[in-house]
Amino acid sequence: MSKIAYLNSKFVKFRDAKVHIEDRGLQFSDSVYEVVAVFNKVLIDFDSHLKRLQFSLNELNINYKINAKKLKNIFEQIILKNNFKSGIIYLQITRGVQSREHAYKEKNIPNVIIYSINKKFNIPGKLFIGKTAITTQDLRWKRRDIKTVSLLANVIAKQIAKKKGAYEAILIDKGKVTEGASTNVWIVKNNTLMTHPSNYDILKGITRDSLKKLIKKDRLKFKENIFTKKQLYSADEVFVTGATSFVTPIIKIDNYKINKGKIGPITLKLSEYYFRNICCD
Ligand code: PDD
Repeated sequence: MSKIAYLNSKFVKFRDAKVHIEDRGLQFSDSVYEVVAVFNKVLIDFDSHLKRLQFSLNELNINYKINAKKLKNIFEQIILKNNFKSGIIYLQITRGVQSREHAYKEKNIPNVIIYSINKKFNIPGKLFIGKTAITTQDLRWKRRDIKTVSLLANVIAKQIAKKKGAYEAILIDKGKVTEGASTNVWIVKNNTLMTHPSNYDILKGITRDSLKKLIKKDRLKFKENIFTKKQLYSADEVFVTGATSFVTPIIKIDNYKINKGKIGPITLKLSEYYFRNICCD
């Protein structure tokens, strides 16, 4: 069966899904995106992703009106048509095609791209593993809260991680941890959880928000605080969250082992809570 993608009101063969060379997403990264996890054919946190998409579109004044019901139906069709079980559905909305010029025409017709990518998740159980990370400078622009495809700094950071055999690149801005190249970063110190406050400096992760609710329910101690690279190295536990990572333990950062290189108890508990919440509720 050939893979099916959605492009501008049509389901098409993946290999035929093409956009114009003057698409503004291609030329200027003038484009927003979302990544929605699918586990056992179930969309995870779909409504929250649409809310953030709306926010990104508004902030950039992209001329696209969200029809939540229609989009949900398209996502479900993608699952159905591709017999898709687990992985991610990627959605990208570009500002559309226009003769190359930095300033945009307000009435451009956006290009809408939706397709699925198979992926195995790191889920609690026998095969659950702690991963490694490296730290690197945060080279990104000043509106990291908007989910745009301006990801070159993230790409560079991930490549450094890949070369060093690490799963994630943790980004450092003036000695402070912002987030991962494609995840939010959390530490545990003296039984208190900490993650960067949601402001312009980080992407307000949907997984981060879901986990916050679970933490509240369980009455764990939690602070939205900025922390330093030094605090990261000396944390009792570290983990990252994201649509492609769920809750993933980090057991080594640069040359520093975290929790003696083992998955910590709070990370394990939260990864189990999170997984139970998405798979079985
Ligand atoms: N990335 N921070 C950054 C910079 C991200 O790119 C992501 C997600 C997150 C976590 O957000 P969420 O929990 O909503 O997935 C945090 C996606 C998965 C990606 O670019 O592939």
